[in-house]
Amino acid sequence: MAAGRTGVMLAALGVLIVCVANGSGPVAEGETSGEVEWVEPWDGAVFRPPSALGAVGVAHRTGSPHLGRQETADLPVLLWWSPGLFPHFSGDSERIECARGACVASRDRRKRGNTQTRALLFYGTDFRASDAPLPRLAHQSWALLHEESPLNNFLLSHGPGIRLFNLTATFSRHSDYPLPLQWLPGTSYLRRAALPLQERAEWRRRGYAPLLYLQSHCDVPADRDRYVRELMRYIPVDSYGKCLQNRELPTARFQDTATATTEDPELLAFLSRYKFHLALENAICNDYMTEKLWRPMHLGAVPVYRGSPSVRDWMPNNHSIILIDDFESPQKLAEFIDFLDKNDEEYMKYLAYKQPGGITNQFLLDSLKQREWGVNDPLLPNYLNGFECFVCDHELTRLDAGKAHADSPGDIPVPEPHIAQPAHMDCPMPKPGFGNLEEIPENDSWKEMWLQDYWQGLDQGEALTAMIHNNETQKSKFWDYLHEIFMKRNQNL
Ligand SMILES: *[C@@H]1O[C@H](CO)[C@@H](O)[C@H](O)[C@H]1NC(C)=O
Ligand SMILES: *[C@@H]1O[C@H](CO)[C@@H](O)[C@H](O)[C@H]1NC(C)=O
Ligand SMILES: *[C@@H]1O[C@H](CO)[C@@H](O)[C@H](O)[C@H]1NC(C)=O
Ligand SMILES: *[C@@H]1O[C@H](CO)[C@@H](O)[C@H](O)[C@H]1NC(C)=O
Repeated sequence: MAAGRTGVMLAALGVLIVCVANGSGPVAEGETSGEVEWVEPWDGAVFRPPSALGAVGVAHRTGSPHLGRQETADLPVLLWWSPGLFPHFSGDSERIECARGACVASRDRRKRGNTQTRALLFYGTDFRASDAPLPRLAHQSWALLHEESPLNNFLLSHGPGIRLFNLTATFSRHSDYPLPLQWLPGTSYLRRAALPLQERAEWRRRGYAPLLYLQSHCDVPADRDRYVRELMRYIPVDSYGKCLQNRELPTARFQDTATATTEDPELLAFLSRYKFHLALENAICNDYMTEKLWRPMHLGAVPVYRGSPSVRDWMPNNHSIILIDDFESPQKLAEFIDFLDKNDEEYMKYLAYKQPGGITNQFLLDSLKQREWGVNDPLLPNYLNGFECFVCDHELTRLDAGKAHADSPGDIPVPEPHIAQPAHMDCPMPKPGFGNLEEIPENDSWKEMWLQDYWQGLDQGEALTAMIHNNETQKSKFWDYLHEIFMKRNQNL
C-alpha cells in the first residue's frame, strides 16, 4: 500500500505545542522539531518553513480557570473526534472564548451523545468511513480539518466523501475556513534578497546544473518523477533526494533529517545556489500549494512548478514562476529554461517581485491581510484554534437560529442545512506525470497504488476502467460502496 501515509502533521503537533495564553499568561516552550520522526523527510520536511501548525504551536484561548461548573455546563461542546489534534495543553476539556461567545472544546468521547455536543471535529488523515461515529446525531455538525493533499485520504476528494461534513478547513479558498496560504508566512518571506546572479553563475561554471530537484517521497499521486525523468533527458538536473538521485548532498549534516526539518541556514544557502528549483506538489488540487512553491521564491530561485492549477491567482505578480503545464513537452520546457539560463536580463524579470512595490497581486495581498491566523507568528492564533472558534461561532449562530424558529415557527423558517461541497477538496483523479495511462505497464507501482487509492472499494481492474474510460457504472459502484458503509452502520448502531 501507499508508503508515507503517516500522521506526520499529527506527530508534529504532538510535540510542538507551545502555550500562548490569552494576553497575560506564561509562554511555555514546546519541545523542538528535532524530536519529530519525519517519515518522508524530503517531501514534507526539508522545505517546510514553520507552518501555522509548527513552531508557534497553539494559542491557549482559555477563560478564567476558576469558572465553576454551572458557568460552562450549558455551553456548546465541540468534540475533537481526532484526539491527537486537540489544540489545548492539558486536560480533556477546555473553555474557549470566541467572537460570538464561549464553547467547550473537548476530546472526551464520552460526551459524544450529549445534547450540548453540537459539533464533532475530524482530522482528514484519520477519517475512515468505516469507523466514523455512527449513527450520526441530527443536532451535531461534522467539521473537517484537512490542510493536507489527498495523498492521505482520497475519500475526501469525492463528492459523497466531502459531503459527509458540514464545515471544512482545507487548502481550498472555497472551504469554510480556507487555508490556501498555510505555508506562506507573509510578503517579507517572498521579498528576501536573492543570491547575486554572478555568484550563481559561478556555481554553474563549477559544474552545478541549472535545475535542482530534492525529493525523497517518490511514488506520489502527482507522479512527478515520471516527468522529471523525462525532463532530465533534455537539461541537466542535480537531484539530491532519494528520487532520481544523481548527486550527494555535500555534508552528512545536510542529509540528516534533523537538519532537514529545520530552516538550517547553511542548507538554505546551499540550495539558493541554484537558479531553478523543480517544484512539484505530491498531488494536484486547486489551491494546494506548499513550501515546495514558496521556499524557492524565498531563496530567490525560480520555481518550475506543477501543482495547484489555480496557482497563478496567488503569485506576487504575473511573471514569477514557470508553469510546467504551459509547455507542450519536457523538451520545450528544457529549451526555455536553457534560454533563461543564458539570458540574465530575462531571468531577472522572474525576480522583479522582490523589488519595492513588486508584489502587485492585490488578491494575494488582501488574502494575507485578511487571514486571522499566522504562520510562525506568536501574536496570532494558529489555524487549529482559529478553526475551533470558527466552529464555535457557527454553532452559537445555529443555536440562535434554532431558538428563533422555535419561538415563532410561523415567521422564522427552520435553518437551512450547511453541507460541504466537492470544491472544498478539489483534487481530480491522479494522472500520469508524463505520457498516457494506457502506455504505462500494469505492474507500474504508481499505477497500482494510486488508482486503487483514489477509487477505494473498487478492485484494480475496476479502478482502471473508471479512470481510463470515465466509466459511470464503475463510479456509481464506488458511491454505492460509500453509501453502504454509511447507511448500514447508521441504521444498525
Ligand atoms: C502582467 O502584468 C503587467 C504589469 O502589470 C501587464 O502590463 C501585463 O499585461 C501582464 N501580462 C499578462 C500576461 O497578464
Ligand atoms: C450536515 O450535513 C449532513 C449531510 O452530510 C446533512 O444531512 C445535515 O442536515 C447537515 N447538518 C447541518 C446542521 O447543517
Ligand atoms: C513489469 O513487467 C515487465 C514485463 O511484463 C517486466 O519486464 C518488468 O520487470 C516488470 N516490472 C516490475 C517492477 O515488476
Ligand atoms: C463500464 O463498466 C461496466 C461494468 O464493469 C461495463 O459493463 C461497461 O461495459 C463499462 N462501460 C464502458 C463504456 O467501458
